Amino acid sequence: ATNIVFADGNPKAKIMLIGEGPGSNEDQEGLPFVGRAGALLDKMLASIDLNRKNVYITNVVNYRPPENRRPTDEEITKYLPYLKKHIEIINPKILVLLGSTALNALVGNEVVISKARGQWIEKQFGECKTSVIITFHPAFLMRQPAQKKMAWIDLKMIRDKKAKLKI
Ligand code: URA
Repeated sequence: ATNIVFADGNPKAKIMLIGEGPGSNEDQEGLPFVGRAGALLDKMLASIDLNRKNVYITNVVNYRPPENRRPTDEEITKYLPYLKKHIEIINPKILVLLGSTALNALVGNEVVISKARGQWIEKQFGECKTSVIITFHPAFLMRQPAQKKMAWIDLKMIRDKKAKLKI
């Protein structure tokens, strides 16, 4: 872990996505989701007419955990105040949590992703009131392609919410 991997996309976007943490491609490029998981994420976004010009993307942790391990609780705790402030500054109307690391960091440890995905939760981060939806991380979907049909349900919910909010 050497480079900061902070964010990509449009800081004025009304839709913000949060992943886990950078992998080695992201560490090299200094941008989130530029490897294989990023290519799938771009396809998922494109399926509902979104792209890096109309969303904003960051991760729970901003430095690559060695050996692609999941961030530790200590790392998550360290970055969490900055992540919450980051959400407040971007002030999205829709917040998409990609995978269980983002779910656990921002919603809680009691919840499992298979139960929490596909539902809207209203949340407030400082001054930012936002509609949160949890879906599967694209790296998980590459390992479990049978779950892509669930991710598609979630993507359609995002598309419909965006239309409803006229954003
Ligand atoms: N996985 C993540 O969670 N974030 C990235 O930036 C890349 C892969």
